[in-house]
Amino acid sequence: MPRGEFEDPRLVEVHDAENLWGWEDDFFMAALAERSAPRVLDFGCGTGRLAIAMAAAGHEVTGVDPARAALDAARRKPGAERVCWLPGSVEVLPARAYDTVLMTGHVAQRFDDREWPAVLRALRRSLDRGGRLIFDSRDPAGRHWARWISPDPRRTVTLPGGETVTAWTEATSPAAGVVSYAGHYQFLDGTELTSDTTLRFRSEPELRRSVEAAGFDVDRVYGGWAREPVGLSEDGELIVLAVVRPEPRTA
Ligand SMILES: C[S@@+](CC[C@H](N)C(=O)[O-])C[C@H]1O[C@@H](n2cnc3c(N)ncnc32)[C@H](O)[C@@H]1O
Repeated sequence: MPRGEFEDPRLVEVHDAENLWGWEDDFFMAALAERSAPRVLDFGCGTGRLAIAMAAAGHEVTGVDPARAALDAARRKPGAERVCWLPGSVEVLPARAYDTVLMTGHVAQRFDDREWPAVLRALRRSLDRGGRLIFDSRDPAGRHWARWISPDPRRTVTLPGGETVTAWTEATSPAAGVVSYAGHYQFLDGTELTSDTTLRFRSEPELRRSVEAAGFDVDRVYGGWAREPVGLSEDGELIVLAVVRPEPRTA
């Protein structure tokens, strides 16, 4: 039976083997350091790579994710005891509790158009005055799905214990900015697991409009991890930095 990639311990192990520290993590650490942000929320923290690094850098970090297997893996990592791990999603967020909310690894694309405005409003409520929202979303102009659709050669992933897993991806063509893909994973004991993911690709104007409608001012949007303008990076990203809009003063 197909399962979510972050809900199966074996797939979580494969995910971690394929997703080591990268440029994007350096970008988020540097963006976080631009302003004072003692209290940080990592929304959709997955297996906690960035949350643990931010806690080690001295921030008070909360990691929220609905996937139990991902959080279990996060809790087992060195330094995990410095992070407050909360299973769940927007429903577990306290009000005005954070100075910065990060949403990394394209978590934003996992919300459909019905969910997205409510998620943004909930993140806005969880931020204190002047708080920042920082997230990434793949630029539809970068056509990332073309790499997933093309007959993908099977790749071999080596797990920390030495076991190898054969993995491949099948994606559908985008329709109305939505791409679905299946990840297939074949283990040496004969087990084959499949994960299904659906991603929404929003354009820069769509992202700006939705973020502003939720009560933020968009500060900057970058197109790549070296802070290139939108459309000028092979990364094909839309990296949004937004600030909670000040509430109008009452007389
Ligand atoms: C590609 S991973 C990114 C994990 C991590 N942020 C990173 O950069 O490695 C996407 C994560 O989004 C989480 N996610 C999916 N639906 C969510 C929701 N409704 N609320 C919060 N997180 C969610 C998944 O469980 C998964 O851990």
